[in-house]
Amino acid sequence: MNDLALAEPPVKASAAAAAAATAEPLVRVRGLKVAFVSREATVQAVNGVDFDLARGEVLTILGESGSGKSVTMRALMRLLPQRARLEGEISVDGRDVMQLSPSALSDMRGQDVAMIFQEPMVAFDPVFSVGAQIAETVERHMGKSRAEGLKRARDLFDLVQIPSPQRRLAAYPHELSGGMRQRAMIALALACSPKLLLADEPTTALDATVQIQILLLLRQLQRELGMSVIFVTHDVGVATEIADRLAVMYAGRMVETGTVRDVIRSPSHPYTRGLLRSTVHGASRGARLEAIPGSPPDMSNPPKGCPFAPRCGLAIAGCLEAPPPPVEVAAGQIVRCIRAGAAPA
Ligand SMILES: Nc1ncnc2c1ncn2[C@@H]1O[C@H](COP(=O)(O)OP(=O)(O)OP(=O)(O)O)[C@@H](O)[C@H]1O
Ligand SMILES: [Mg+2]
Repeated sequence: MNDLALAEPPVKASAAAAAAATAEPLVRVRGLKVAFVSREATVQAVNGVDFDLARGEVLTILGESGSGKSVTMRALMRLLPQRARLEGEISVDGRDVMQLSPSALSDMRGQDVAMIFQEPMVAFDPVFSVGAQIAETVERHMGKSRAEGLKRARDLFDLVQIPSPQRRLAAYPHELSGGMRQRAMIALALACSPKLLLADEPTTALDATVQIQILLLLRQLQRELGMSVIFVTHDVGVATEIADRLAVMYAGRMVETGTVRDVIRSPSHPYTRGLLRSTVHGASRGARLEAIPGSPPDMSNPPKGCPFAPRCGLAIAGCLEAPPPPVEVAAGQIVRCIRAGAAPA
C-alpha cells in the first residue's frame, strides 16, 4: 500500500459538504458502551463513544487490535451476541436504533444500513449462486420480482466492475477469486441503495494491488451514490486515502477525532502521535519507525483514569484519576487528553 502513503489527505470543501455539515447528521452516537458479560469476567469492549456522521461523509476508525472498532460497528446495527450489554444512544437517519423492534431492525439492516466485512464468505450462503442471493435481497427488501432482482444484480455487477457479469452471477461464492468475491459482497451491500455503509477492514485479506483497486472502487461508489461510510482500518495510509474524518480508538474510546488533514498534520493525542510514528504511512519520511512501548489495558479491569496513561511519556498524576474529558484543540478536532496542550509537537 506504499503508493497510498504519499497521497495528500483529501480536501472536500464543496457546497454539498458545507450543507451536510449544518444538516442533521445521519448517525448520532452518544455515550455508547458495550460490555461482554461472562461468569469469569466483564469485558468493557466499548467504553463511552460519541460521534456524529454527516450525510455523504466518510469516517475512518483507526486503532490497534482489540480497541473496539468492530464492536462499535456491530453496535450501530445491533448485531451483537445476546450476552452483550449495550448502553447509550444510537440514532440513524432520525431513528432511535436502541428502541427498534426485531422486525424494524431487520428492515434497517437490509435497506438503510449495509455492512461489508473483512471476509466475504461470511456474507454469502455457500449453497446459492451470488446472483441469486443478491436478487433475493432485492426481492425481500424492495418488494421487487425475481426478474427485477436479477436485473438489479446484473446492474450492480457492472457498477462494481466485475468482468463477464452474467457468468459471474451464476457462480457460487467459492468459485470467485478473493477480489471478485469482495466486489460481489460490495454489490450485495449496495443492493438496496443503503444510506450508510459500514466497511469493517474490507481489504485486509486481499493482496496489495487488489486492495488498492477495491479501495478506489469504494471511494468512487461513495461519491457517486452520496452514501455515508464508516470504514474501519488499522492502516494509516488507507485511512488518509479514503476518509473525510478520522477517529482514533484506544481501549474502547475515541481518543481523537477530526478531519484527516488536521489529525495527520497536527495529531494532538499522545497515542495518535505514537500510532503515526509507528507506521510507514504516518512517520515523516526518513524518520525511524518507533513502536509504542507497553500494551493496551485489560478491558476486563479498565483503569480508573486515562487508559493510555500507563504507556504515555507525558502522563501526570491527574491522568490516573479520571477518564479525560473531551477537549476541542482546534475547530472540530476533539481530543480526550488533559495533556493535549502540553504535548510537544
Ligand atoms: N463476542 C464477543 N465476546 C466477548 N468479547 C468480545 C466479543 N467480541 C469482541 N470482544 C472483545 O471486545 C474487545 C474489542 O473487540 P473488537 O473486535 O471490537 O476489536 P477491533 O478493534 O475490531 O480489533 P481488530 O483490529 O483485531 O479487528 C476485544 O477485547 C475483544 O476480545
Ligand atoms: Mg475488528
